[in-house]
Amino acid sequence: MANVAVLGCIWGDEAKAKIVDFLAAEADIVIRYQGGNNAGHTIVSNGKKYIFHLIPAGILYPDKICFLGNGVVIDLFALLAEMENLSDQGIDFHNRFFIDPRAGIVLPIHRQLDEAAENDSPAIKIGTTKRGIGPCYSDLTARVGIRFGDLFHLQILRQRLKRLYNYHKLSDYEIDDLAEALYLSAKPLAECRQQISYFLNRHQDKRILFEGAQGALLDLSFGTYPFVTSSHTTIGGITTGSGFSLRRLGRVVGVYKSYFTRVGEGPFPTELKNELGDIIREHGNEYGSTTGRPRRCGWFDAVAARYSAMLNDIDEIALTLLDVLSGLDSIRICTGYRMNETIITDFPDNSEILNQVTPIYEELKGWKDDITQISSYQALPVAAREYIGRLEELLDRKITIISVGPDREQTIVRQK
Ligand code: GDP
Ligand code: IMO
Ligand code: MG
Repeated sequence: MANVAVLGCIWGDEAKAKIVDFLAAEADIVIRYQGGNNAGHTIVSNGKKYIFHLIPAGILYPDKICFLGNGVVIDLFALLAEMENLSDQGIDFHNRFFIDPRAGIVLPIHRQLDEAAENDSPAIKIGTTKRGIGPCYSDLTARVGIRFGDLFHLQILRQRLKRLYNYHKLSDYEIDDLAEALYLSAKPLAECRQQISYFLNRHQDKRILFEGAQGALLDLSFGTYPFVTSSHTTIGGITTGSGFSLRRLGRVVGVYKSYFTRVGEGPFPTELKNELGDIIREHGNEYGSTTGRPRRCGWFDAVAARYSAMLNDIDEIALTLLDVLSGLDSIRICTGYRMNETIITDFPDNSEILNQVTPIYEELKGWKDDITQISSYQALPVAAREYIGRLEELLDRKITIISVGPDREQTIVRQK
């Protein structure tokens, strides 16, 4: 197997983790390289459900090495709780879970700042997960952040915290206690410290799988700014978040839901603010894995999808939750936007414009049959195959993996 990237190509929650879990069977190392515990990655294995926030989904395989790269931001207490929970379920981390010392640390103050920004100013509400992700990345960019490696040196940690509190003009009375709590809590993770760039360079023979978090339309720069997350969710995030050269990547799998969803604020041209949207939400159980918020649902937007396929230079598509569309009389695909008298086929760089466009739809026949037990492409209803074929035409890419249910088994792989 080549080195593979699995990238979300919508606004997150595309079922990346299910595809990661499916492909990880062939990998040696699974890496998270951006984002933090704003992610919620669900895997159903043998009927058992696991939700990962920080730990790479590959940890379920006892023989895989899992890594958090330098581009990740870590809420230490959330990480320890997640590890404890998984350890209780029999997952062993010893000698196979590593963290780059450059990874950022999300502090309680970051969560407070995130929460305050969301609650205090409705005008700039993003609908974040309130996990402190934006404030943590901001501090790292401002060069006052705390990094994982700092947690193992109490003196350095105190100094860094002082700098950060000064920067925010906050009283530093709690710094000693916080430094000690972080220092003591981090101790059991001392053996996990490992520079990812050197590690990957030393293990060039190993097969690597990069597990993306969030999705291309939430990318800090390429996404629907300012309604985005604070990391680079598109392909370049792999290099800046792990030190791995993209020249060594052999396969890029773009993950798309069969319809579109988004959590939080921001433009969503094909959103269904009606009963049909509610039906899809219930049928697809579209409630956030991290915050439990109802996800906004809408039709597949091929303008946005072509944009994310281009940005990520994807080789192939994993199309997920196709079963959720079963039972609909007809299914729509947005093939362009109308803005006044103009037709737009390039994804706008501006959220205000995106808010004003009207989708141009193509309508396809739906299918009635339950497809959750189908295991071959040929056995899918004709209308489902026509839908897949039309998406392939519009995106100019092959759909090689089709997911028809949450379980690992409910996955159709098409022959090349
Ligand atoms: P991620 O963040 O991209 O990994 O996706 P999430 O885990 O947040 O959300 C995907 C949800 O869809 C999870 O609850 C999965 O268990 C579920 N899921 C994954 N694939 C399928 C599928 O093909 N059909 C259905 N009905 N559910 C799926
Ligand atoms: P996974 O990896 C869906 C969204 C939030 C909000 C915006 C900014 O499970 O696909 P943040 O807390 O990152 O500052 O919030 O990004 N968001 C996600 N939406 N899936 C995710 O992760 C998300 N992570 C962040 O809802 O709109
Ligand atoms: Mg998710």
